[in-house]
Amino acid sequence: MKFKIADYAGFCFGVQRAMDMAWEELETMNDDEVYSLGPLIHNKQAVKVYEDKGLNVVDDLDKVNEKSKIIIRSHGVSKDIYRNAVDKNLKVIDATCPFVKKIQDIANEYYNKGYKIIIVGDKSHPEVVGINGWCNNEAITIKNIEDLSEIPRNYKKYCVVAQTTINLNMYKEISEKLKNILEDVIVHNTICLATRDRQKSASQLSKEVDCMIVIGGKHSSNTQKLVKICEENVETYHIETVSDLHAYDIKKYSFVGITAGASTPSWIIEDVIKFIKNI
Ligand code: F3S
Repeated sequence: MKFKIADYAGFCFGVQRAMDMAWEELETMNDDEVYSLGPLIHNKQAVKVYEDKGLNVVDDLDKVNEKSKIIIRSHGVSKDIYRNAVDKNLKVIDATCPFVKKIQDIANEYYNKGYKIIIVGDKSHPEVVGINGWCNNEAITIKNIEDLSEIPRNYKKYCVVAQTTINLNMYKEISEKLKNILEDVIVHNTICLATRDRQKSASQLSKEVDCMIVIGGKHSSNTQKLVKICEENVETYHIETVSDLHAYDIKKYSFVGITAGASTPSWIIEDVIKFIKNI
């Protein structure tokens, strides 16, 4: 059996960086406690490894004991969280992805200059919630072209940013429309290409092979997207770990493609490769 791994698969730069920073803290901790505000990534196996090493995952700063360390995950958080952490004497380990940090800075700068911030993205996504927290939670969030009609026209100037993982073509279309309907508008392209690279290479590979194996959390939206893309071209199996593969008759394929979501650790991918190699 032949197999090929997509050119871009698994951890993106920002997630890898956050996971490395968190691991470093756990390796060097003494009597202090280390917390993360929300699960570090959407991968329960990886989260479990970190928890076993001593990481406490909480959903609220109130649950963190004073003077502990708190890891901010790659999605970033609002300005208030940093303030509250300082008030509680916590040491902040800021693993916000630098690409997300840049959006927060833009939102903060333009808000302070009197612009109305428009975020194109998913209102409830932690990254968007965090960005909004850098413009006093006053941003207008729109998800698609249809939402354009909801934008109030009574502000003098607007600044538009995108959630890092949204579709580039949709953002271009929305930006063009906004430039037509609003008089004074600055658009920043803040999309991160890591997602697009993973989707493109998964799509390409799924056209070459007899079946695709997509590795990643069942709740990870970027993994689900990869599954959808691959399914358009070939039989596709979404698995979380190698043990899920036992349920399928992979032997019947002669050429298998493998890809993984941006929150899938390399050791889970390697387990799958080992399994395939043994067939
Ligand atoms: Fe950062 Fe892009 Fe990953 S924004 S967290 S490198 S998807």
